[in-house]
Amino acid sequence: MRQLLQINSSLFAETSVSNQIAKELLAQLAETMPQISISCRDIAAEGVPHLDAAYLQAINTPANEQTAKQAQQSIYSQNLIDEVQAADILLIGAPMYNFSVPSVLKAWFDHIARAGITFEYTAEGPKGLLQNKTAYVITTRGGLHKDKASDTQVPYIKNMLAFLGIEDVHFIYAEGLNMGDHARENGLQQARNSIVEILAA
Ligand SMILES: Cc1cc2nc3c(=O)[nH]c(=O)nc-3n(C[C@H](O)[C@H](O)[C@H](O)COP(=O)(O)O)c2cc1C
Repeated sequence: MRQLLQINSSLFAETSVSNQIAKELLAQLAETMPQISISCRDIAAEGVPHLDAAYLQAINTPANEQTAKQAQQSIYSQNLIDEVQAADILLIGAPMYNFSVPSVLKAWFDHIARAGITFEYTAEGPKGLLQNKTAYVITTRGGLHKDKASDTQVPYIKNMLAFLGIEDVHFIYAEGLNMGDHARENGLQQARNSIVEILAA
């Protein structure tokens, strides 16, 4: 059975467009892959902690020398890594906040990028160790940024996933969501059309 890990990062779960589009993509994926197991982590609701010195020290301390707090921090971080390693498919909901990703999504990447586990340095340069995975990224924006210099979100996500070894990445854009009803409808339709195209390919 294929495993899908959904990561939601919108601060507004109830009204979130990225969550809604992710739901629609999931429904269509489930039709083509009935044998799919889905797990979901809402990293905004959960508030993935940002890495700090104490956290880094915790994950770099051998288990038998960790304090109770360090063990808890280390296990939490390891759980995030285990989930990604177990997934065949990643579905990431990524609203644009201040031209980039929500800070919890950055924090999540900081937890899962672990030298020797999800990437390694070789004589040829860094090598991602998360192989044979597909990622779908729903990017929702109030304005229009696709292929413009103001889009510092998609290049970051693309680079981060490639660094970890995930090259089969599909971006679904819903843009112009805060530019009036007409633009919003266009943006939603654009996202729905690209889901159909991507899944048909
Ligand atoms: C804190 C914050 C920052 C935002 N920054 C941007 C931005 O830089 N560019 C943009 O086009 N939209 C921006 N927006 C609008 C969101 O991208 C838009 O509302 C989108 O629908 C959010 O996704 P969601 O509905 O899944 O939460 C911002 C919204 C918030 C709350």
